[in-house]
Amino acid sequence: MNTYKIAVIPGDGIGKEVVPEGLRVLDAAAKRFALKLDYTHFDWSCETYFKTGKMMPADGLSQLRPFDSIFLGAVGYPGVPDHISLWGLLIPIRRDFEQYVNLRPVRLLRGVESPLKNARPGEIDFCVVRENCEGEYSDVGGRIFRGTEQEMAMQQTIFTRRGVDRILRYAFELARKRKKHLTSATKSNGIIHTMPFWDERFQIIGKEYPDVRTDQFHIDILTAHFVRRPEVFDVVVGSNLFGDILSDLGPAVVGSIGIAPSANLNPERKYPSMFEPVHGSAPDIAGKGIANPIGQIWSAAMMLRHFGEEKAADAIERAIEDVLVTPEFLTPDVGGKASTEIVGKAIADRVGK
Ligand code: NAI
Ligand code: MG
Repeated sequence: MNTYKIAVIPGDGIGKEVVPEGLRVLDAAAKRFALKLDYTHFDWSCETYFKTGKMMPADGLSQLRPFDSIFLGAVGYPGVPDHISLWGLLIPIRRDFEQYVNLRPVRLLRGVESPLKNARPGEIDFCVVRENCEGEYSDVGGRIFRGTEQEMAMQQTIFTRRGVDRILRYAFELARKRKKHLTSATKSNGIIHTMPFWDERFQIIGKEYPDVRTDQFHIDILTAHFVRRPEVFDVVVGSNLFGDILSDLGPAVVGSIGIAPSANLNPERKYPSMFEPVHGSAPDIAGKGIANPIGQIWSAAMMLRHFGEEKAADAIERAIEDVLVTPEFLTPDVGGKASTEIVGKAIADRVGK
């Protein structure tokens, strides 16, 4: 029996409501496909921050290190500034565990209405690959002359050859397994040092993948293409900032943010990877039992796929598609009246059969 050790961090708000449904579905998959999933729960969250002044204990990362993966809900709550919840938990995990790939599939599923008038299920199916460890999100920089007329702020962008090459290679490899088409997000007309470097590496690495068709667009027109012709994309790769923007826009064009999954991967498997829905803690609906658990459940499928448990992952994805075409199993964000728990149970039921 394959055994996997999973660190579970529900976090805040609806994270606490959707994670149990993710586990319910994982348990159903484990039973059907004879896996052993061994969970350890961690209460690290903004609530913990209120009590202890820390998002996680000082040795938090070494506590997580032995696990096969981390299954996260969402962190963030009113009263705790977002940079504390982010830099106190998520970013240290992503960076120290070299989870340099942020992978977000964008697929229009049956039963979900896209805000795009002419979008049809099956036509939109691509992946955003975001660089997750360096780039524009660095803490190098500072402010001087605070509060005076000469006040100034500087923030450095960090592009290393190692960091850029490894994310590009991951994206090329992924494209090779799919429709063999890779699009790069750039802005080398305005950002004249780092972006030409990114483009240059894209060209050079591309030579190793002659079977993959490539193109590149400046980020501004690329966002327009996501809306006007999303069906042309297969894999889209971008720096931390551009990838961040694209990986919210992508899920938005295929319906509710409540459905979108993501993975923070350490492809070398030297460290645990982390799986979480794209959405945050949604304080506006927290506690009402109406959050859509599908983003969390789909993230669970991505985790099983990362373990190599393809059949179990496929079963979960199929169950999600089945449930989405059944109006009684839709949460309010996708036009229904069902509760978080009803949807979770419906998916678990189908996975178990
Ligand atoms: P959000 O994703 O929490 O919510 C945005 C909107 O989408 C809200 O109207 C919410 O009700 C709705 N929504 C989100 N998930 C849903 C679901 N599963 N089902 C139904 N509706 C859903 O983003 P927001 O409001 O910008 O951030 C709230 C908090 O979450 C902030 O503290 C933010 O920092 C944090 N956050 C954390 C993330 C993470 O843990 N990775 C990611 C994004 C935000
Ligand atoms: Mg984002």
